[in-house]
Amino acid sequence: MSDSSGHLHMPIHMIDLIRKKRDRGVLSEAEIGFLVCGAAGESIPLEQLSAWLMAAWLNGLELDEIRALTVAMRDSGAKFDPSRLGKVAVDKHSTGGVGDKTSFLVAPIAAACGVAVPMISGRALGHTGGTLDKLEAIPAYRTALTLEEFEAVLQKCGASIVSQTPALVPADRVLYALRDRTGTVESPGLICASILSKKLAAGLNALVLDVKTGSGAFLRKREDTEYLAALMVATAEAAGTRTVALMTDMGQPLGAMAGNWIELAECVGLMRGNRPVESEDLRELSLILAGWMIHLGGQAETPEAGYARAEGAIVDGSALRIFLEMIAAQGGDVLAFDDAHFHKPGATRVVEALETGFISSMDTTMLGWAVQRLGAGREKAGEPVDPHAGIHFHARRGAFVEKGQPLATLYATREAMLAEPESLLKRAIVFSATKPETVPLVSRIFTQDDAEIYLRNAVR
Ligand code: URA
Repeated sequence: MSDSSGHLHMPIHMIDLIRKKRDRGVLSEAEIGFLVCGAAGESIPLEQLSAWLMAAWLNGLELDEIRALTVAMRDSGAKFDPSRLGKVAVDKHSTGGVGDKTSFLVAPIAAACGVAVPMISGRALGHTGGTLDKLEAIPAYRTALTLEEFEAVLQKCGASIVSQTPALVPADRVLYALRDRTGTVESPGLICASILSKKLAAGLNALVLDVKTGSGAFLRKREDTEYLAALMVATAEAAGTRTVALMTDMGQPLGAMAGNWIELAECVGLMRGNRPVESEDLRELSLILAGWMIHLGGQAETPEAGYARAEGAIVDGSALRIFLEMIAAQGGDVLAFDDAHFHKPGATRVVEALETGFISSMDTTMLGWAVQRLGAGREKAGEPVDPHAGIHFHARRGAFVEKGQPLATLYATREAMLAEPESLLKRAIVFSATKPETVPLVSRIFTQDDAEIYLRNAVR
């Protein structure tokens, strides 16, 4: 077989792609397409895919390979087409954190400002909580909608938060499960293609990435986080989606609550106009992220003007109305938010400060494990989670606390599950005699131009 220029199309063999990557070669778009198609269609044996993944993990992927991989994975199954919504479709993705619940605020806020938010979310991973697990704390809330039901909720409310369907990005399901079992998860190129393929399969016009830094982030080294942020922006832009990445602080849990139901209750409280000081960082970051979504969605000239509109949607109650409408449209019982007795943890314990001083730092990953082990997360895939488990933090980094003052309230499934999280919490919170320096909530922003300059100069 030959193309219009008379070149012969040679058949592609998986063994040649493994040898090429092993020898630090660069795969063509056609070769990447073959690999992704074979992964999605299960026609390439898992041992060959695993060998290629390890070669890619060890030798890295070039920018062109990452772009080709992302696009081929995005196109490997069904896709959502938001064009019938008649609005610009914008989503936000976070790389994961503790108490990271901005989705419950930014989705209805951006929708209230005229943007469509088709949000396909995930479950708890490692020490971090999952948006779907939190939403399922609402009685009867359905996360597994068909693409038709997803579209109907978006038409009605402007926002919908659902789980991935089996038909969406089948290549990632195969490759991600293999990476999980072959020690090949932590590769910037593979992470970028995995995250973006799923986001871009929702047909987004624009995407805001919240890339976490600090003690609770998955990638701990600042340069790795910056590289991933720049890579995701450049790759999504090359695939035709306007994208910005904000590098944000995960050196302490975001807001006062970390768990399932209690995180939703904190967000509803903020949308009702409550402003406890421990929730101010959550409110601020959500307004900044929503401001960018509104700007990229064409509803504000600048991200700052988007921020002002976002704040207006909280103050005038429109964000709360949309959030409750969305929950009801997905079968959820919104009356739970008015029921003071709904939150019924199996066991509760108040943990007091062991010394007097400033809270100077927190090991947020350890705090995340404490939350998971109270029952908010699962030990094995597929297990149910406890909707009521979690931690209410009473003091933030930089606060001065007296010995004996309440630091946090733990909510567990049962009494016997309190001891380990209590000990993790006590180890995770570090005191000092002097006030620590303030850490900025947003430390860097990558737009397309910044990302390309960064990647040109990056030494990997
Ligand atoms: N989340 C994903 O969806 N994929 C990765 O590779 C890492 C985190």
